[in-house]
Amino acid sequence: VNAPVPIPAAPATPGYDVEALRREEFPWAAATAYLNHASTGPIPASAQRRLAEYQRRRAEPHRLTADDLFPVLAAARAAAARLINADPAEIALAPNTSYGLNLAAQALPLEPGSVILASDREFPALVYPFRHRARHGDVRFELLPVTPEGWPDEAALLARLDDPAVRCVAVSLTQFANGYTVDLARLSRETRRRGTWLVVDAIQGCGQVPLDVRETPVDILACGAQKWLLSPWGTGFLWVRPDLVPRLEPPWAGWMAFEGTDDFTRLCAYDPRFRQDARRFEMVTLPFHDFAGMAVAVELLADLGTAAVAAHLRDVGRPVVEWAARRGVPVTSPLGPRASGILCVAPPAPERAFAALEEAGVAASLREGSIRLSPHAYNTVEELARVAEVLERAR
Ligand SMILES: Cc1ncc(COP(=O)(O)O)c(C=O)c1O
Repeated sequence: VNAPVPIPAAPATPGYDVEALRREEFPWAAATAYLNHASTGPIPASAQRRLAEYQRRRAEPHRLTADDLFPVLAAARAAAARLINADPAEIALAPNTSYGLNLAAQALPLEPGSVILASDREFPALVYPFRHRARHGDVRFELLPVTPEGWPDEAALLARLDDPAVRCVAVSLTQFANGYTVDLARLSRETRRRGTWLVVDAIQGCGQVPLDVRETPVDILACGAQKWLLSPWGTGFLWVRPDLVPRLEPPWAGWMAFEGTDDFTRLCAYDPRFRQDARRFEMVTLPFHDFAGMAVAVELLADLGTAAVAAHLRDVGRPVVEWAARRGVPVTSPLGPRASGILCVAPPAPERAFAALEEAGVAASLREGSIRLSPHAYNTVEELARVAEVLERAR
């Protein structure tokens, strides 16, 4: 795996002030080394203030005004759209990633005999919806073996596209267990060329990996906001390709999806028209206060710029990569162009190393035999140097 280990090039200078970000938005960060954003993202202080302020008024609903309801959801859609260079009309808010993946699995038209392709070792949230779609045998769900490193075999995926039966590909932008980030530009190009549906689970990438749906269009992109988007549990969004939005019939019929819901004085007219924008894929009364928080957090990330965050993350992992190279410890994440901010190493006794990190106040994860480190925009190279010291002592 990754042998010989290449050392990332010279440190990049982030396009923002890391210390100020830490001080203003993550003032608790000095008390720990929180390197677990692939699991749960913290809530930035500005988003926390917005949530608390809203929650206070929510407890006494007569204090809420019309501006606290649908305009708040519109702001959350606008923030998500800004982050991925989309139009807000292409964004539906959702409580998590699975919502969008299930929509894709159920709504995308597939002729009998079609094959849906995914890579083995994907996070289960991507696997179950498509396997469920194939349960009656009219379409087939195929998991392609991973490379010897345990990464998606993109060459094999691309080669499988030549089979005319392959009508849909579902991939994670970034793999949960090793941080491998697919070449979305190539996948986008090759699926567009063949008219194959491309469904992307973006939760482990969006917010730390630059993503531009105008440059690399897909068909449906699903993203929970609870990790890299630093937002409350129960928030997220999906993006649908604009020309697909009015043509794709939702497999369910939530009352919020219909034109008739705009006029609360005449709801019982039961206007049968689905909305023309991506709100047709929404269903229910969404948690307004949580989406108010998400809007603030996602705007913060959009202000930093995902390219600057990605450059910062390439830099902060250096001490651990260098330690692994010195000690011959396998780095199980890619380090080249397919790298992301998720950095995994596999020391000989991963459980012992993980316990040592916990004891040293470092929050990380143990995934598929590797220590998974997932720093974000405000983490520092000093924190990762501390990780390298702890791993050295635990050898
Ligand atoms: C790749 C991936 N997809 C989805 C999820 C979570 O799905 P959901 O947002 O539906 O809970 C995770 C992690 O929890 C993940 O790593």
